[in-house]
Amino acid sequence: NIEAIIFDLDGVIVDTAKYHFLAWQRLARELDIEFTIEDNERLKGVSRMRSLEIILEIGNKTLDEKEKEDLAFKKNEWYKEYIANMDESEILEGAKEFIELLRENNIKVVLGSASKNAKTILEKLNLIDCFHAIIDGTCVTKAKPDPQVFLQGAEAVGIDPINCIVFEDAEAGIEAAKRAGMVAIGVGEADTLKDAHIQIKGLYEMNMERLMSL
Ligand code: G6P
Ligand code: MG
Repeated sequence: NIEAIIFDLDGVIVDTAKYHFLAWQRLARELDIEFTIEDNERLKGVSRMRSLEIILEIGNKTLDEKEKEDLAFKKNEWYKEYIANMDESEILEGAKEFIELLRENNIKVVLGSASKNAKTILEKLNLIDCFHAIIDGTCVTKAKPDPQVFLQGAEAVGIDPINCIVFEDAEAGIEAAKRAGMVAIGVGEADTLKDAHIQIKGLYEMNMERLMSL
């Protein structure tokens, strides 16, 4: 029985990777680190602090905790500037329609995101009221690939993990979903999604028939 669908946000409902990239690249420049769009792929689904650590590793730099916190804060301030004007037009194709379809069919709609900016983004996209539960980076203590975010999402709507399906664009998220005992659907073209139970290009491919066949 499919009773709840848990969505990752970044890369599944909205393409924020380009804004994260702009902000990280600006920070990397200040640190004299060369950070490319290819490197940015490694940051998908990864927490803010871990993302910074990956960038520091790329640049062979070590900093203390306080310095890292300051840099992560600065990056987030820039990121918030970049997403300030985001609106519904940035919702990825088919996402809103699929969410509405699920609600009409009495399936719980849950967010399971690593981002601490998730609620702000959902508000900008006018999607915040579509979710029965929102679990974001402010709710969890363990980052994906730990299953915590998805287990908490299932619990929030009172659904058994085996009756949940997760839509994810990142490798860490696919692993987290599988560790939670859920069906993991990879969204996107990346071959890093080969571990997903099935892979789709975008939510526009989804309908009730396809969902029920899973
Ligand atoms: C998502 C994105 C990551 C981002 C993380 C934390 O998983 O894919 O690129 O680093 O959220 O986001 P935040 O908004 O809290 O910095
Ligand atoms: Mg994602």
